[in-house]
Amino acid sequence: MESLEIGSRLDACLAAAVAADAGLADVAKVVAACAAAAIEVSTVIGRGALAGDLAAQGEQNSDGDVQKFLDVFAHERFTEALRGAPVAEVASEEAEGVMLLNAGAPLSVAIDPLDGSSNIGVNMAVGSIFGIRPTASSPENPLGSFTGPGTLQLAAGFVTYGPATSLVLTLGQGTQTFTLDRAEGGFRLTHPRMEVVASAKEYAINASNARHWDPPVKAYIEDCLRGAEGPLDKDFNMRWLGSLVSDAQRVLLRGGVFLYPGDGRKGYAQGRLRLLYEAAPIAFLMEQAGAGAIDGERRILDICATGIHERVPLIFGSADEVACVAKYYGGRN
Ligand code: AHG
Ligand code: MN
Ligand code: MN
Ligand code: MN
Repeated sequence: MESLEIGSRLDACLAAAVAADAGLADVAKVVAACAAAAIEVSTVIGRGALAGDLAAQGEQNSDGDVQKFLDVFAHERFTEALRGAPVAEVASEEAEGVMLLNAGAPLSVAIDPLDGSSNIGVNMAVGSIFGIRPTASSPENPLGSFTGPGTLQLAAGFVTYGPATSLVLTLGQGTQTFTLDRAEGGFRLTHPRMEVVASAKEYAINASNARHWDPPVKAYIEDCLRGAEGPLDKDFNMRWLGSLVSDAQRVLLRGGVFLYPGDGRKGYAQGRLRLLYEAAPIAFLMEQAGAGAIDGERRILDICATGIHERVPLIFGSADEVACVAKYYGGRN
């Protein structure tokens, strides 16, 4: 899709991708379904308090997060849209087990319907994340569609509901960004080929967890804080937006490194983020844009989930910086 003109509509770009590779036909239908659901969610988010209390708290999800109205609304809209696409199974943050949609359909989707829930109700950016995989479950392995490595993903994307609503997407042919043309009600291509600069000037981490971090991350951040006098020989800026998609979009556009390490808190020994519907889709998008994504020691895309809500430490961003952090895990550089 890199050759397409800026301003091209998403459906035209998907049609061009399918014309070039007919094997993408079903993937394109699933992406279009996610885009349609995202527009519905964006419309509600854009109304803010006029849409009611989007942060109204409900039950706890199976992951221990309190579900807010918008979490559930987004989950329902995406699931409904995927029911109309060639999708057999959905693994959603907001559902305990795998959801069965269309028996025998070729594709399955891991989804974080609403990412950055702590930003709901305070007018801060939130998002939705999805990863599309071949259906591969069996009676012997009912989770089979989701227990393979992230390299099995055929496509991945995230939507940022920010000042603009954008869809960052990869079909395995680079990473593109589409921006919602509200007047027209559809996404248009605005960034045909995202390329992440190799060196970082910013790091993103929740510094309030410092006392819990894995030791290599503690050592790395200490060296960041020593600035140009320290071994990293440069002065970093810091950002932490409370929504993975917002930090990921900034990294894609201006480089940087994002870290949510294992932090030793109850339940967060492997970090807070989930492999299937946060780390793996983001890792696919980052690698397709020339960036890196690891858990400290392993490439995220090589890791196989054993459960659909499994957490994993996540470090991604500018390739040189991710390699630098990896050295702290592999022994002080
Ligand atoms: P979600 O709202 O889907 O549960 O994800 C929230 C995640 C991610 O978006 C963000 O980077 C991280 O939680 C923020 O964690 P802290 O609140 O611990 O900083
Ligand atoms: Mn959550
Ligand atoms: Mn999330
Ligand atoms: Mn979520």
